Amino acid sequence: SKGNHRHFMLKEIYEQPIVVAQTLRSYLQRMDDRVTLPIPDFDLGAIRRVTIVACGTSFYAGMVAKYWFEQFARVPVDLDVASEFRYRAPVMEEGGLALFISQSGETADTLAALRHARSEGQRIAVVVNVPTSTMAREADLLLPTHAGPEIGVASTKAFTCQLAVLAALAVNLARAKATLAEGEESEIVRQLAEAPAALNAALAQDGAIEAMAHTIAAARDVLYLGRGTDYPLALEGALKLKEISYIHAEGYAAGEMKHGPIALIDDAVPVIVIASSGPLFDKTVSNMQEVQARGGKVVLISDDEGIAAAGEGCLATIAMPKVHPLIAPLVYAIPVQLLAYHVAVAKGTDVDQPRNLAKSVTVE
Ligand code: F6R
Repeated sequence: SKGNHRHFMLKEIYEQPIVVAQTLRSYLQRMDDRVTLPIPDFDLGAIRRVTIVACGTSFYAGMVAKYWFEQFARVPVDLDVASEFRYRAPVMEEGGLALFISQSGETADTLAALRHARSEGQRIAVVVNVPTSTMAREADLLLPTHAGPEIGVASTKAFTCQLAVLAALAVNLARAKATLAEGEESEIVRQLAEAPAALNAALAQDGAIEAMAHTIAAARDVLYLGRGTDYPLALEGALKLKEISYIHAEGYAAGEMKHGPIALIDDAVPVIVIASSGPLFDKTVSNMQEVQARGGKVVLISDDEGIAAAGEGCLATIAMPKVHPLIAPLVYAIPVQLLAYHVAVAKGTDVDQPRNLAKSVTVE
């Protein structure tokens, strides 16, 4: 049931602190500040390259993981959407790890890609939410998310739970590769354990987001910008908005703006800038200022420090808690989900059952 929420999507957005905590509980051992994988004898140290394949929102979780595995574990990552991966004759080294991410565990393209990777001698890891699904059964390394049933067609809580599992996998990979500085692992684990509280803090911005939704609902086009792991979040924000509100939206790497899309900017195009704190913050802000100089109306999603530094002149700002870069994608998922939700409600669309879409895509 929807409980006292108007839509399943909103209920599922609000469940995230609980289901992310639930998911992390099976991966975090707080006793000794460790992150454990449920299958201890899987030799992560031997992995030389990871191939990540998924569709839609699950693909964007995979894109975040690519940044993490490379940055924290120094493991090269190949990443593709399932419908391209299968047909482009990908080169995989014998014994490599292929990682598939899926809420349903039944997505036809992802499943076909999984079977193709197996036929190419890959070990198969699966991050999946439905434990009885085909992908769960076919995995060598099963990494379940514990989001519970997701009813809304637009994926929300499954995404943040996927990120939680992928963060745990990144830490395990990093340990196996001995790439983390001393103290960094326990700091990351400490922050991961606090992620549910940070998600609650992000949810507290619901009212502020709802208050500006009508402005976005009036737009014909919306751009989302971000760098680093904020870039897949920008893509995810744009996907959420287009699928439930039917407003045309694009996610762009902020640095790519000047190579074309900035031509679109005028005062009728809202630009959602996702700028978590970190080494890329200033660069994102300068891309944001290029937008503002052309009359673009910016909504800045950042932490208090970021908003204090760059929030002036924005149409609106949405304040997130300040968190470790490995937690930021989980936290910043919340405002992009809520924004899409409130814009869709403002437009009166069928939020839980958008036109032309099915919850599980079992055709290729
Ligand atoms: C978007 C959405 C879809 C799914 C995609 C993959 O909100 O829900 O893009 O993420 O169809 O589905 P799964 O994760 O079940 O493989």
